[in-house]
Amino acid sequence: MFENVKINNPERFENDFTVEEAKKALDASIEILKKTLPRFTDSFAMPVGGFYREAKNGWSKNRYKQSPLPDWTSGMWTGLYWMVYEITKDEAFRQACENHIKIMQKVADEKIALNDHDIGFKFTPTCVAAYKLTGNEEAKKTALKAAEILLEHYCPINKFIIREGLRTDEGNYDGYRTLVDSMMNIPLFFWAYEETGNKAYYDAAVGHYNTTAKYLVRDDGSSYHHYQFDPETLAPVGGVTWQGNRDESCWTRGHSWLVYGYPVAYRYTKDEKTVDIHRGVTYYFLNNLPTDLIPYWDFDFNDFSLEPRDSSAAAVVCAGLLEMSSLLPDDSPDKKFFKNAAGAILKALIKHCLNKGDEGDGILLHSTGSKPHNLLVDTVETYADYFFVEALVRYINPDWKAYW
Ligand code: GLY
Repeated sequence: MFENVKINNPERFENDFTVEEAKKALDASIEILKKTLPRFTDSFAMPVGGFYREAKNGWSKNRYKQSPLPDWTSGMWTGLYWMVYEITKDEAFRQACENHIKIMQKVADEKIALNDHDIGFKFTPTCVAAYKLTGNEEAKKTALKAAEILLEHYCPINKFIIREGLRTDEGNYDGYRTLVDSMMNIPLFFWAYEETGNKAYYDAAVGHYNTTAKYLVRDDGSSYHHYQFDPETLAPVGGVTWQGNRDESCWTRGHSWLVYGYPVAYRYTKDEKTVDIHRGVTYYFLNNLPTDLIPYWDFDFNDFSLEPRDSSAAAVVCAGLLEMSSLLPDDSPDKKFFKNAAGAILKALIKHCLNKGDEGDGILLHSTGSKPHNLLVDTVETYADYFFVEALVRYINPDWKAYW
């Protein structure tokens, strides 16, 4: 499918990033997280002006739109704390994670703000991680409940996770769309299939990634953010954006979810098609990076632009490249290349974006949430920090067992 998408200038990803450098950045990140812990033992975190503050229910009233907490970003905070627990075995981090999971239990039981696609983002790095790491049965039950709710948002006719509400909701035209972000929601389906044997989860995950490739990924390896379908006739309408610069551009972080999502699909299915799609979207991402390897928030912008950067997209891509590298056979040239590319980008992130200790209490600076909405532009973010730390962990230990 993507045989025409080639990598330009692969030599610019040659680098000397070492495991020792990754360990140093990881240690610095853990130090930052240790300082945050006393404030977040029983709440998630949200950024304000380069600092995190407690995200209590109802606080985040003007994120991308009215959204009560926990919102899609909350799970990554718990995921960060889980990684610190895995590395340090510090029980205080485990306790905080377990407190967060109690909140998620209530969210699933009472279906609080779960009427959309983001359910996997919320429950995978919280409850699935808890079960994988500690065998927490309550967390498993909660994650399975969440998977059941996510399945209600899967349209078996057009085979995609519905952005918001259900196809049959009256007047919900914009809701009946698929979006690149949801590649990070299908890991919850794959995991639920493994735990329950219910094939409906597996089929939904496979259906969703095939639809994503068909409608959201363009022939040059770039992507639409959203793809609209008509809820009445079910016909495909066209690609549109929500967080990108324009409908036909490629929104950087949205694209990064593809670079991470397809390797996860490959891990669970061994479907060779996902390797091909991943190569196409990854080469597009790498070919369009500016000279310093820190992407702008949309690929409409490149060297010499004054637009904000989005370090979070770079962090997500590093984690995705390392996942695919760990899965590819030794004779695949991309195995080494993807690892090198991740090393080069991590080195660039450490040089240009890592908090040196006195710049707020986030780890990675220069993340952009949604530029068109002027929200969380050039700041810190839970998901930027999470995927940066995950990428470091993967770089140090390629056998790390993913939460996703
Ligand atoms: N909702 C996912 C994102 O903003 O990247």
